[in-house]
Amino acid sequence: MKKILITGGAGFIGSHVVRLFVNKYPDYQIFNLDKLTYAGNLANLTDVESKRNYRFIKGDIVEGEFILKLFDEHQFDGVIHLAAESHVDRSISSPMEFIFTNIVGTVNLLNAAKAIWKDNTGNKLFYHVSTDEVYGSLGDEGFFTETTAYDPHSPYSASKASSDHLVRAYHDTFGLPVVISNCSNNYGGYQFPEKLIPLFIHNIKNNKPLPVYGKGENVRDWLYVEDHAHAIDVIFHQGRKGETYNIGGNNEWKNIDLIKVLCKVMDNKLGRESGTSEKLITFVKDRAGHDLRYAIDSTKLQKELGWKPSLQFEEGIEKTVDWYLNNQEWLDNVTSGDYQKYYEKQYKER
Ligand code: NAD
Ligand code: TYD
Repeated sequence: MKKILITGGAGFIGSHVVRLFVNKYPDYQIFNLDKLTYAGNLANLTDVESKRNYRFIKGDIVEGEFILKLFDEHQFDGVIHLAAESHVDRSISSPMEFIFTNIVGTVNLLNAAKAIWKDNTGNKLFYHVSTDEVYGSLGDEGFFTETTAYDPHSPYSASKASSDHLVRAYHDTFGLPVVISNCSNNYGGYQFPEKLIPLFIHNIKNNKPLPVYGKGENVRDWLYVEDHAHAIDVIFHQGRKGETYNIGGNNEWKNIDLIKVLCKVMDNKLGRESGTSEKLITFVKDRAGHDLRYAIDSTKLQKELGWKPSLQFEEGIEKTVDWYLNNQEWLDNVTSGDYQKYYEKQYKER
């Protein structure tokens, strides 16, 4: 039985990856290591928690000795590393957590893999899940490819760029078998309502303002989260060691246009008069260092490994809205406690 460690498996993307692997690979033992920060939630995994090939371990990747012991005890065959601080706005207001978790935490995992696997790395793999934000910002034209030079602007993207470089350094220097993927913006169920799409769904439902940064002209490439999880599956099993793969939805949207679509879908689902939700749009102070445009060229992944996104955006956004409307208890749960305070502070500061 293969033992796979998935870090950050209680978060948004991680929970979809855990679910996919637990269900698709009954002969793998899946270990989900997660600190359960504000963004991690075991309620994301209730459908797999009793499966015999799934095990949850609460722990912090910043604690190096604990990580080394864990690798020694379980002798993992593979690692899919997703644990991170992931929200750009939080990285602007408090960068240190990003440095600890995203950089130090990643190095702790690399050190443990290096120490435990030693030279016996034939069928082992350390897979680092990263973001397209490491490439910086595009103008109106062009796409990020795997050879685009790194040019991160936010503390979040700089911390992910740093961890990507360290993963590559452990490959080049120590021969650690690694693979990296850099993906565009994900959307779907189980995403903490601080990122654009779930935040705006939550706010529309509660008739709260929709804070659009700047003029809403920034462009993002959106990918349905289950398509990302499938890409991770393909890359984990077929990706070439030492390589990087870009993952994207070929689905660029100006924020304001995407928000208007979301407003329409919400009016429709909530039975409100057309145009009601758009009235909540409020233009606020722009995000500092706000990258203008992200766009991914995923030709390498499509050609080499045969992956492509399966869902059209219209279908994905409907599914996503339905998910949040049908999972009110989940939303109530994650927006209780400190959420309201944090969010109101964020909003006031703009
Ligand atoms: P998320 O914030 O929803 O989840 C992160 C998870 O990591 C949480 O469960 C949290 O509890 C856990 N975690 C945080 N610090 C930890 C620590 N010190 N030790 C152990 N666990 C810890 O993030 P996400 O959106 O699911 O992103 C997952 C990964 O994918 C990240 O590495 C992110 O950089 C990358 N990524 C995200 C996107 C996106 O659009 N969300 C796009 C591309 C890449
Ligand atoms: P976000 O979901 O935070 O992802 P990222 O910054 O990693 O791309 O933001 C997506 C886009 O939406 C980004 O251009 C910032 C913008 N945005 C807003 O206009 N208002 C908001 O309240 C949020 C959270 C984001």
